[in-house]
Amino acid sequence: MVIIAMCAAEHKPSALDSASRGIPHVPVLLDTLMQMLVLAPDALIVDLTFGQGGYAQAFLKRYPDCRYFGFDRDPQAVSNGLLWTDTYPGLCLAQADFTAWPIQLPSGQHPDAVIMDLGISSTQLDDPRRGFSFQLDSPLDMRMNPADPQNAASLLAATSAAELETWLRTLVQLPMAGRIAARICERRPMKSSGELKRAVLSALPKMDFYKRQQILSQVFLALRMRVNRELEQLAQALPLAWLHLKPGGTLAVVSFQSAEDKQVKNFARSIGLQKHLSVKASRQEQRDNPRSRSARLRLLPKKTL
Ligand SMILES: C[S@@+](CC[C@H](N)C(=O)[O-])C[C@H]1O[C@@H](n2cnc3c(N)ncnc32)[C@H](O)[C@@H]1O
Repeated sequence: MVIIAMCAAEHKPSALDSASRGIPHVPVLLDTLMQMLVLAPDALIVDLTFGQGGYAQAFLKRYPDCRYFGFDRDPQAVSNGLLWTDTYPGLCLAQADFTAWPIQLPSGQHPDAVIMDLGISSTQLDDPRRGFSFQLDSPLDMRMNPADPQNAASLLAATSAAELETWLRTLVQLPMAGRIAARICERRPMKSSGELKRAVLSALPKMDFYKRQQILSQVFLALRMRVNRELEQLAQALPLAWLHLKPGGTLAVVSFQSAEDKQVKNFARSIGLQKHLSVKASRQEQRDNPRSRSARLRLLPKKTL
């Protein structure tokens, strides 16, 4: 994997990108996180899901003397963040997945907070080149890191109907998983998100528009999770973050699906934190930002020595 470390003093922002094209990503549970995660002014913060930098900007404004290490496996997210490195001297960015970030930290330094806001950003979802959305007809890609070897089209081509059915059942608890998986496999090879969408719709009995949209979004989500090995990444990320976290520090995780949240909850139990802060978005936030409806924030404090 190519790792590019970029700190404010060393690099200038470069290409224009999706962030600067004005597609907004509204950070979820940000106010709640800011209220609950109170840090020293010079804290070292590690953000493993830098994304569009919504959390980063808020923390860098609140704690101008902090050191904020933002990581993302998507090189586009990292290059978007470079646009701010002149404004925020404490910001340091690198491309890394959940397993590859610790070597980027200054040796012997441990974060006061590790933050993870799982999934993809609205900017990735709405990018017509990425294939994440069933609302767009795009190449069937879905890789967060376009350098990863397998995209959604090649993964589907190499997957049996039985395997696909298992993913649809276990990852997103999809009803009619067998029927949908069989139809997708009949229609292969598939190159575009439009072809996948039509295959799924053709497998459905008559039902209302909302229900069809929901099923499409579940199928696309399950495939995205497999392409990016999201649960496997999370399973590795949690103990790694915990290991590197400073005693007295906090691991904060925002998850959007029950499979992810279950992993975080089980991890908390495994480290003896049966009781910890866990919050959902307020009604107001859920109204203002529908993405927040399924979100849950868990805060895991690491005991001081
Ligand atoms: C929901 S967005 C984060 C949004 C961010 N908190 C903000 O306010 O702009 C999730 C980001 O995490 C990245 N990501 C997801 N899984 C990752 C992984 N395993 N390793 C590194 N980055 C990951 C995605 O590429 C995406 O940019």
